[in-house]
Amino acid sequence: MADEFRTSGKEEREEQYRSLIPQIKALAQGEPDLIANLSNLTAALMAEFKFLWVGFYIQRGEDLVLGPFQGPVACARIQKGKGVCGTAFSKQETLLVPDVNAFSGHIACSPLSKSEIVVPIFDVQKDIRMVLDIDSEKPDHFDETDKKYLEKIADLVTGWL
Ligand code: SME
Repeated sequence: MADEFRTSGKEEREEQYRSLIPQIKALAQGEPDLIANLSNLTAALMAEFKFLWVGFYIQRGEDLVLGPFQGPVACARIQKGKGVCGTAFSKQETLLVPDVNAFSGHIACSPLSKSEIVVPIFDVQKDIRMVLDIDSEKPDHFDETDKKYLEKIADLVTGWL
């Protein structure tokens, strides 16, 4: 299998997240600027996992607007409740989508995207503020391990808001 499509097994993936989390904390240490910290977070995730796309959609009124990201150009604006991102935002829960073509209303920013995970991010008052969206070229890429660690990373972001 071509190296860019290789995905790590459960234990290896756990180890990758376990080593990445302290690095993400260190990158944001002492830096109060949210955009700077979100930007480095997307770069750190991309460097470790070589996903197709990693980025944030941030609440702006009734829409979610594209924030810091790594990967191909993407839709600038998604309405709440639309697509995987808007649905995860409205439901305020993580969505694991093993096959994006089977998700009714999926917004195809890239035809290469086959599976995705979207994790909501809350502020300390528990109000939802944005989502972290990760897309893969591999079908069924994401599992409960990704959910567990990406939700931990979402909690780190809460501390930056
Ligand atoms: N797939 C997303 C749209 C954003 S892009 O994938 C970057 C969705 O349906 O919400």
